Amino acid sequence: MLACPKMFDIDTIRKDFPILEREIEGRKLVYLDSAATSQKPQSVIDALVNYYADYNANIHRGVHTLSEEATAAYEGVREKIQAFIGAPQSKEIIFTRNATEAINLVASTWGKQNIKAGDEILLTPLEHHSNLVPWQMLAAEVGAKIVFAELTADGRLDLDSCRRLITSKTKLVAMTQMSNVLGTIVPVAAVAKLAHAQGALMLVDGAQSVPHLPVAVKELGCDFLVFSMHKMLGPTGVGVLWAPAEILESMPPYMGGGDMISAVWRDRALYNQLPWKFEAGTPNIADVIASGAAIDYLAQLGMDNVRAHEVEITEYALKRLRDLPGITIYGPESSQDRGGVISFNFAGLHPHDLGQIVNEDGVAIRVGHHCCQPLMRDMNVTGTARASFYIYNTKEEVDALYKALENAQKVLGHVACR
Ligand SMILES: Cc1ncc(COP(=O)(O)O)c(C=O)c1O
Repeated sequence: MLACPKMFDIDTIRKDFPILEREIEGRKLVYLDSAATSQKPQSVIDALVNYYADYNANIHRGVHTLSEEATAAYEGVREKIQAFIGAPQSKEIIFTRNATEAINLVASTWGKQNIKAGDEILLTPLEHHSNLVPWQMLAAEVGAKIVFAELTADGRLDLDSCRRLITSKTKLVAMTQMSNVLGTIVPVAAVAKLAHAQGALMLVDGAQSVPHLPVAVKELGCDFLVFSMHKMLGPTGVGVLWAPAEILESMPPYMGGGDMISAVWRDRALYNQLPWKFEAGTPNIADVIASGAAIDYLAQLGMDNVRAHEVEITEYALKRLRDLPGITIYGPESSQDRGGVISFNFAGLHPHDLGQIVNEDGVAIRVGHHCCQPLMRDMNVTGTARASFYIYNTKEEVDALYKALENAQKVLGHVACR
């Protein structure tokens, strides 16, 4: 196990998150739903308020001070994100509404341009609906076929199946780097090599990995990386698409309108340079600026330290939860093969009931299909309960989860017997 350096001081970190002071049902909030969305530190909240209070203006076309300040702050965040994921150029960072929109952008532009009838798109059974439905829509439109790689019994990617299924017919491989259900960390760099060997491109859904692991696009070897800022301390409404400039240059625009043009006539338009070609209309200025504070926060902690903390918490949680009678924990055995996400069920108990009862103890977990209905079918369940961890979670909170689940088992077991 990686050691957590002293600078990762959990008490100091927790003080930065005002919401962690909240009480739910008279109990201290235990927030174990960061895979859905993370909590926000005061610095992110302040960045939002400061923008609106001090320099609210539209960006790019203004010559007045407020607009120049807002433009500098907005474009500065592009550079922060470039550094955070090790992208060669800031113009390769495209702001979208979320990871979902980033995937739809690729499907609607690069996809329609490059994927034809009879071509194949390789996905995994782990994919969030965001990285499945856009490809289904594209495949239906152009007559392409979706092929699924296989998983091992404990929910890891079977690389042999990728070797077998990625062929000269494959035009795109699109997969998550970390499952939001099983926590599985997927060896996307190895898959990218297989894809490239067959002339296919590789899209990595980093919605769960970029917030939790050190991620560098060069090491991933992928052609597209997408993620959402709201899962990594930032506000809602900001997603990121990264792709090398040559690929982005070759793609048609996604939406037409202001800012994505360099000149317009009655009958035609010349499109803007990167990255603005893909950012039509007034963007989410305030939330992009506040996303910069989120990046600063994570960069200051160090993503190696973030990962080390989550390995420690996940290992502890797996050990504790395995003690609960009747529990089934899904996904890889080892915390080294998974992120801070644990999905589970109890024999005879509905996950929704479980979620409601543990909420009475102040414990916030997520229940349901987690936007992965095909995976739920493969697992032969309608849903699971899911606890997910981030930088502010403690072992005491894992203990609180354990106690709340023990209590829920008693309450629900009792109801079931009547
Ligand atoms: C693996 C994965 N991909 C994509 C998404 C979609 O993210 P968003 O809803 O922010 O677009 C999620 C959200 O939970 C996710 O977990």
